[in-house]
Amino acid sequence: MQTRIIDGNAIARELRAGLIRRVAALAAMGVRPGLAVLQVGNHPASKIYVRNKMKACGEVGLYSEHIELPADADEWTLLERIRTLNRDSRIHGILVQLPLPTGLSAERVLDALAPAKDVDGFHPINMGLLAAGSPRFVPCTPLGVMKLIEHEEIGVQGRHAVVVGRSNIVGKPMALLLLQKGATVTICNSRTPDLGAMTSQADILVVAAGRPRLVTAGMVKPGAVVIDVGINRLADGKLAGDVDFQSMLGTASRITPVPGGVGPMTIAMLLENTVMSAERASASGGSS
Ligand code: GUN
Repeated sequence: MQTRIIDGNAIARELRAGLIRRVAALAAMGVRPGLAVLQVGNHPASKIYVRNKMKACGEVGLYSEHIELPADADEWTLLERIRTLNRDSRIHGILVQLPLPTGLSAERVLDALAPAKDVDGFHPINMGLLAAGSPRFVPCTPLGVMKLIEHEEIGVQGRHAVVVGRSNIVGKPMALLLLQKGATVTICNSRTPDLGAMTSQADILVVAAGRPRLVTAGMVKPGAVVIDVGINRLADGKLAGDVDFQSMLGTASRITPVPGGVGPMTIAMLLENTVMSAERASASGGSS
């Protein structure tokens, strides 16, 4: 079987072109969408993610603010910054880069975000709306995966989707989105006994376990669609996904590469959520 490699960079580029048009329409009404990214401490991967997010904002004409707090910042200071951003009419989206340094409660911090500016979709109200089937903001990575699936015209209804990973950021919302589209969904994690017995039932397999090359070709059904959400830095400095990409060629019908698959889609969805937030705020006659 010929395996088609899904080009996330190309699809994200198309989506960004659409966003540039929406940003221009907002500009004609005197509105510029704004995103604030709060980063606490110096987590090496976070630094790269945040830099990429800020650069992407500039490329589609968004206003952006990068707020850096030291790793030993106290929670009160962080919560005060969030409350100030909640009131700031230039800001339509607020993102707190995770993970936070130990000692800071992600739960309390996410709780402090104005739900109408929570472009990551991590506030409990937004998670609840997604679970109820009427989402306001959908977390960027699983939303990006759904856009890839849509763009590739992969049918979801009636298919068996298996999600490996149970995080609030990817695994749980991913499963909910696939469920909403009519898939039969199984949720596993890296410790599921005989993981291969589960993954080999998948028509659509999404892997977000944070373990390099956890899933190999012997664990998938020939013809399955394989979406790799993992980005792992190996000892030799190279990047690897959670899926053994090389071994999948000839087995999967389609696969996302790492890098260049899901990653660029995540950033495009963050921009999309911020633009959507600004559109909602302007339609309701002011800041959100
Ligand atoms: N850390 C890893 N992924 C994400 C994400 O999508 N959003 C935030 N805020 N932090 C992350």
